[in-house]
Parts: sequence; C-alpha cells; structure tokens
Amino acid sequence: MSKIKRHLVTSALPYANGPIHIGHLAGVYIPSDIYTRYLRLRGKDVLSICGSDEHGVPITLKARQEGVSPQDIVDKFHELNKASFEKLGISFDIYSRTSSAVHHEMASDFFRTLYDKGKFIEKSSDQYFDEEAGQFLADRYITGTCPHCGNPSAYGDQCENCGTSLSPNELIKPKSTISGSKPVLKKTRHWYLPLDKYEPFLKKWILEEHQDWKTNVYGQCKSWLDSGLQPRAVSRDLNWGVPVPVDGAGGKVLYVWFDAPIGYISATKELTPDWEKYWKSKDTSMVHFIGKDNIVFHCIIFPSMLKAEGSYILPENVPANEFLNLEGHKISTSRNWAVWLHEYLEEFEGMEDVLRYVLCANAPETKDNDFTWKDFQNRNNNELVAILGNFVNRAIVLTNKYFKGVVPPASNLQNYDREVLEEITHIRTQVEKSIERFRFREALKETMNLARLGNKYLADTEPWNQDRNSEERIKTILNISLQISVNLSILIEPFLPFTSVKLASFLNYENPGWEKIGSAGLLPGGHKIGKAKHLFQKIDNEKVEKQIARLLKTRQDNEKVSIKQAAETISYEDFMKMDIRTATILEAEKLAKTKKLIKLTVDTGLDKRTIVSGIAGYFNAKDIIGKQVLVLINLATRKLRGIESQGMILMAEDIDGKLVFVSPEEKTENGAGVK
Ligand code: MF3
Ligand code: ZN
Repeated sequence: MSKIKRHLVTSALPYANGPIHIGHLAGVYIPSDIYTRYLRLRGKDVLSICGSDEHGVPITLKARQEGVSPQDIVDKFHELNKASFEKLGISFDIYSRTSSAVHHEMASDFFRTLYDKGKFIEKSSDQYFDEEAGQFLADRYITGTCPHCGNPSAYGDQCENCGTSLSPNELIKPKSTISGSKPVLKKTRHWYLPLDKYEPFLKKWILEEHQDWKTNVYGQCKSWLDSGLQPRAVSRDLNWGVPVPVDGAGGKVLYVWFDAPIGYISATKELTPDWEKYWKSKDTSMVHFIGKDNIVFHCIIFPSMLKAEGSYILPENVPANEFLNLEGHKISTSRNWAVWLHEYLEEFEGMEDVLRYVLCANAPETKDNDFTWKDFQNRNNNELVAILGNFVNRAIVLTNKYFKGVVPPASNLQNYDREVLEEITHIRTQVEKSIERFRFREALKETMNLARLGNKYLADTEPWNQDRNSEERIKTILNISLQISVNLSILIEPFLPFTSVKLASFLNYENPGWEKIGSAGLLPGGHKIGKAKHLFQKIDNEKVEKQIARLLKTRQDNEKVSIKQAAETISYEDFMKMDIRTATILEAEKLAKTKKLIKLTVDTGLDKRTIVSGIAGYFNAKDIIGKQVLVLINLATRKLRGIESQGMILMAEDIDGKLVFVSPEEKTENGAGVK
C-alpha cells in the first residue's frame, strides 16, 4: 500500500426495485463498510461510493405490473434503501442514483467518447418484438420450449432445466411474458463493444498480474477468458434508461450494465470536485465490492470500457462473496424468502451491530453459507453478550467499585501482564493483515480473541479475590483490563461502530484512531471513567421463534401456490410403457462450460450407458459415484452438448428447484424393474 495516496471503495449499486436483504449485506455492504471504516480509522484518504441502480428491464416490468411509472418505483426504493443503509451504520460518503442528471450526462459522454473513438461496432439483427406491448423483448422476457431438453418454460437466455445457454431464436414456440402473445422478429441496430479485442489485455492484467484476487473471482475470470470473449451489445430497445447519444437512435438506451458501473464515477463527481484525482491517478487504489453474480461485469466488461476510454484507472481488487442462504433455502425476493433490512431495523431496534456481527462472522466468503435465526441468537448470547459485553462490564464495574471509577496505575508488571499487553499489538497486526486481504470473518474472530483474552485474564488473576491479591496487584490488574477495553473499542469500530462509540463513552474516552492500538497507557492512570451499562442484551427464544414462525408461514404459503396440479390422466398401458430400472452410477464428470450438466456412466444391469443430467447445481460429480438411483431406460436418446444421453435419472424437485435423488431404500441388484 506504500505508494498509494488515496482509496476509492465502491459497493455494487443495488437495483432500486426492491428492499435490501441480508444476502446483499453479507455479500457486499458489510464487507465494504468494514474495509472503509478501517481505512478511515487509519487516517487514510478514502471515499466510499454507492447508490441505486435505477435502470434496466426488471424496473420497467415491476412498474407495469403495479400500474405506476418506473420513476415511482425507483423513488420509493431509493429512499427506503438509502435510509436503511444509514441506520445500519453503512457509512457511504455518498448514496447517489443513476437516474440523476449528473449520471445521465456522465454515462452519455462516456458512450459518446467511445463512439467518437471508433471503439464500437454496429450490427443489425433480428430481435423479438411484442406487437401488443409495442416493444422489443429482453431475452429474459421470452419463454418457450428448450430445443435441447424439451422443457416448455425455458427462458430466452437459458434453459434452467438442462442448464444450456440459449438465444431467443432457438426457442420453440416463443411467447412474450409481457402480453402472452407470440412475438415477431424485427430488425434492429445496436452498438457492440468488441470484447474479443480486449482479451490479450485482460489476460495479462488478470491472469498474470492479479493472481492475488480471491479464487472464486479469479476462477470465473479465467473460465470466461479461456472460452473466448464475444462482442457484447451495449444498447437496448427500451424507453427507460440513458438515451443513446447518437443521431437516429431514438427509442434506444444504454444497456443497464453499461451505464450502472459508470454510476460509480458520476457519484464521485457529485460528491467532490476532486473526483478526477480519485479516478485518474495511478496512486489511487480502487476496490470494487460485489456479489458473485456481478463478477464478469466488473472484471471483464467495465475494465474493457475503462481501457477503451483510456483515462481511467483499473480496480486493484474486486472482492466478491458467495451467496448467503436463509434457513437452508435460497433467498428469493419474489417468494419473500428473506430477512429484509428495513423490517429488521424496526423489530430489532438498537441491535444494528448484532446483525453486522452475525453477517460478518458467518459471511459466505469462500462458499455459500446459511443464516439461521438460532445461530443469530447463539452468536448474540454466547459471543457478544457472554464474551465482549461481559468482559468490558466486569472491568468497568470493578473499577467503579474499588476505585470510584478512576483508572488505577499499573506497577511491577508480571510476565503474564506483559504477555497480555503484547498480545494486543499482535492481534492488531493479525486484524490488519486479514482486513487487507479481505478476510473479514478472520479479522472479526481475531478481534473477539482480545475480548476472550480479557475474560481469561480476569478469570486467572481474580482481582475480586482480596486474599490472593494485594491492593497494588488489584490496581495493576484493573489497569490492564481497562487498557484491553479501550483497545477493544478501537479494534471493533470497523465491525461494530455503534458498540465502539458506546464503549468509548462508558470509558469517557474518544476513539484516538487505529494507530494508537497497543500503545502503552492508552487510558492514563487517574482518568475518570463512566458507569457501565450493558453493551448487548440477551435475545430470548420467543423473539427468534417469532421470526422462525413467520418464515414457516411464508414457506407454507409458497408451497400452496407452487405445488403443481396433477397432470392429465394416463392409462395403465401408458404407465407400463415406461421402463424404469435400478442402476448404479459408475462415473460422473462435470461438463466444462456448462453450469449444470454432469456426464454419468451408469450400470443398468443390462448395459453400461451414458446419461447427461442437469444436476451439477446440487451435487459434486465425485460425491455421487457409487450411488444407486432409478433410471428411465427406454427414453428416446437425445444429444446434449454433443453427447448422446441414453435415459433419464429420476429426481424429486422442491419449490426452490432443489433436486434430490429418488433412490431404492435398500440396495438391490441393478436392473430391477420399478412398478
Ligand atoms: N444492480 C446490480 C445488481 O444488483 C449491480 C450493479 S453494480 C454496478 O446486481 F456496477 F453496475 F453499478
Ligand atoms: Zn433445456
């Protein structure tokens, strides 16, 4: 970090079409806030930038459904989300929005610069148009039958059943999800950024120079770059967004993923006249905090745009987390399967730091993770209350009791005392290292270790034990306990900002900044501290059970709507046509460049055959080898990704789309018929 003079921290701009939930927080905003607060506390020049992403098709769709304008939608959620972030102590320097005039101008100029430099290619293509709705259709808003697996509700960009990427023209019987009508093909012209031309630059910059990026981020970039990049359209036929600033481009706007990241620049400009210093000098370190579904946009597309423009810096790092699940199921806005930030803030008033703590301690940094209300309660009661709160409370209460709240002097330090004091500096170094490597869970754990150490120190030295200790010894022990407490108040600030302020006020002290952590006699002898109040409150069962009950009800409601009606009646003969057998999986191998496909070799008792199955989202290939399953063996073969699939494995699918094997309860010989 040595030659770095300033820091620019950006957090993915959330879409303003819904409220913020714990998945957003754990993935992006808690980490970015910890990082920013840490840098500020170290006295660095740092700006934290965020705002609402207010363009894109989903917003126009939501407006249509609710019979209001897109502007109404974004106004509502912009205000809600801005206020919620603030209440949680997420300390953005600015929370802007992409519908602002500054942004429209910035994005428009950016496009125009690339256009004038000849950085785009123009192409005409046939695209589906909904004549009833009078608009072109984004890929996601066309459904039809998948040409690969026959799934009748495949999307224009992907079939969720077999995992194949599609283009809308491949769909059999396409249908507009807006009006339900059959769309027609119509010619339209768009501008493309030829990403293929940036491949050599990206390969060098990421694959060679940024092997330090998190493995999930690096891995996704590598797989994109290895499969070869294609020109990408950066305009859309839509009437909501930044108009394409080219004559004759009426009715066209910039693609939302073109304009949104430019929002980071516009917001910086809105914040400070010095914005160019942050965006254009080599001694700025820029870090983009994002969710894992944003990786390609921030690591491949936006850097190519910046490179094409020529005057901007590139990010130093792009830390992305995996996803957080809720009580074992995927968070879903449409199914209301989430803990909403604005609701949490109302129901758990004054407990902002508890949510920050739990979401950091359990962050999905290297793999998907699960939030449960029980874990939330346990971490509050067993960690925040029992470790941090308890230690600080004892140190302050005892000082008030024995020394009228005046910090006693330390004298004749024993080895144990010195070790404890040295440990503060050691922990500080560990926390710094972890934060700078974006390992916030680890950093928080180290921080809590200081409180653990404090508790152990008190338990070992027993300052309340007058027989064991002299008055002088008690003074020393409490002095050291108070030094630990004051150091804790600084160390916890990036993670638990409200608690940090509270603790400092109990100690009647003002946070002197990170650099002071570990210095001798931080809280000087003779300093008068305040009375102890509780830093944290226990959470009782009733409180979390209420939350769990609500989720349970949501799940039941969802199940009611999503359990499919029985299909039409078939005859006994129809049923008997299906030849289902027990079979064992002998080999399994994930197909490269597909999200979901696994190639299996199964022993059906009659033969060994190949089956391609769309289950990679739920199973690792190596874990299912040896499993006995049921296979429909007389299904007509079909080719998936060039491989002939000779049958179908029977699976049960729940409302999240989660798959489980339907297997014989006891192992039987392969080839046994199922009736
Ligand atoms: N709105 C996007 C999402 O929620 C993130 C946009 S990030 C930006 O997935 F860089 F484009 F702003
Ligand atoms: Zn399919």
